[in-house]
Amino acid sequence: MMRLPDYKEARTRDKRDYKRVEFIFDDSIKQKYMGKKFFLKTYGCQMNEHDSENIRALLSELGFEEVDDYNNADLVLLNTCSIRENAHNKAFGMLGRLKHLKGEKKNLIVGLCGCMAQEAGVVDEILRDYKFVNFVFGTHNLYQLPEIIDKAIEENRQQIEVFSREGDLVEGLPVIRTNNYKAYVNIIYGCNKFCTYCIVPYTRGSERSRSREDVLREVDELIKDGYKEITLLGQNVNAYGKDLYDNYTLGNLLEDIAKKDIPRVRFMTSHPWDFTDEMIEVIGKYKNIMPSVHLPVQSGSSRILKLMGRRYTKESYLELFDKIKKVVPGVAISTDIIVGFPGETEEDFLETLDLVERCKYDNAFTFIFSAREGTPACKLKDEVSLKEKEERLQRLNQVVNKYFLENNKKLEESIVSVLVEGLSEKDNMYFGYTDTNKLINFSVDKKINIGDIVNVKVTSAKTWSLDGELVG
Ligand code: SAH
Ligand code: SF4
Ligand code: F3S
Repeated sequence: MMRLPDYKEARTRDKRDYKRVEFIFDDSIKQKYMGKKFFLKTYGCQMNEHDSENIRALLSELGFEEVDDYNNADLVLLNTCSIRENAHNKAFGMLGRLKHLKGEKKNLIVGLCGCMAQEAGVVDEILRDYKFVNFVFGTHNLYQLPEIIDKAIEENRQQIEVFSREGDLVEGLPVIRTNNYKAYVNIIYGCNKFCTYCIVPYTRGSERSRSREDVLREVDELIKDGYKEITLLGQNVNAYGKDLYDNYTLGNLLEDIAKKDIPRVRFMTSHPWDFTDEMIEVIGKYKNIMPSVHLPVQSGSSRILKLMGRRYTKESYLELFDKIKKVVPGVAISTDIIVGFPGETEEDFLETLDLVERCKYDNAFTFIFSAREGTPACKLKDEVSLKEKEERLQRLNQVVNKYFLENNKKLEESIVSVLVEGLSEKDNMYFGYTDTNKLINFSVDKKINIGDIVNVKVTSAKTWSLDGELVG
């Protein structure tokens, strides 16, 4: 049987009832592959990383054990990302190497999942040129991984199982987390924003919130297990609750979580469109909601923002930005910026530089526009040369970097709170992240443990990190 993705269907957003269902592992295949080894490679965002934490657990219930060299694996699984051509090319490059390996190792099982599996073009290419790939499943049926892999191995023919649209909301997937102190918690799946350049609404389906009971229960379990930091995840967390409740928003959820005994709460990503005053108040009010907001702007030109379908202008973005800065003490705001959107002129680009000079971001992820098949922006005329785009990116990076350093310098001599993550490469130095999510390397004069939250005096600032020493 084969199920192929279809973009036309993926684009639809009618009101559909989806059920909440509890995941059940088919007992007959539990531990069936004991002694077999898997290699898992994750491309893409935190959402994908978190999916991989579920994949790890599902594979280990099948009996597989993880290895960190794909040459030693019986099963190689690529959890892919479609966001830019670069990510796409990396996954295909890996498939090329695996084809080679499969020539030598006939029993090797190769699978692909994640966002690229949702792209009709990718699946066509796999059917045509990568016949050696044993199975493909998408983002909407990750929970079927055990059956799909088992079938691919038992029946020894290619399994392509991709749903174009989201199905039920599955709770209770097993998870093996990569960090013992910091945890991701999904609060909303999918995206309904349809920014014209972006493929995510097609690969992740429509916005579906998890119930607050399910979220709060997961948070309680994490607290019980000793977790210190929780990051609420969604493509647009600010839309949380809208599809489920008349009157329960991200603000309410943040507040309910902040009242619990958890030292650090984060959330990402926030689309500027759904950011309410009430949410800002809550972020400002609770000490354990970290003063760190990721607020992607994409462009400083209102004309380009309109073409991007972002639903705000430079002016309204700045208004929101100022409000957050005013209400949340010491907040660090970070952003994402795209240069070279089709039709972006030098003037438009200068508007972006101007906005960056104004916002002086604490961190920024900058990208060159990448045309994604099936998105509206892919069809726009694009006359700016790649060379010009690369130059814009460089000019932009110079400005954002200047402010990273400037912001970090302001912290010199101050005391910051740090969640200790590990020993750094340098002798006897630990590293961790501050409330505002800045990396800091620091020396210690007494024993501390990974997972502790400690006070560190900042001794010097660099562009991408701080140096410091433990105090008290
Ligand atoms: N949901 C998040 C974005 C996830 S994608 C949000 O809206 O904030 C992360 C970033 O990738 C985006 O913010 C955007 O800056 C960038 N991006 C998305 N599509 C892109 C494309 N086609 N080309 C270049 N950058 C892109
Ligand atoms: Fe993509 Fe826009 Fe949705 Fe973010 S909000 S995932 S950029 S469509
Ligand atoms: Fe990539 Fe999919 Fe995340 S496209 S950025 S892995 S939602």
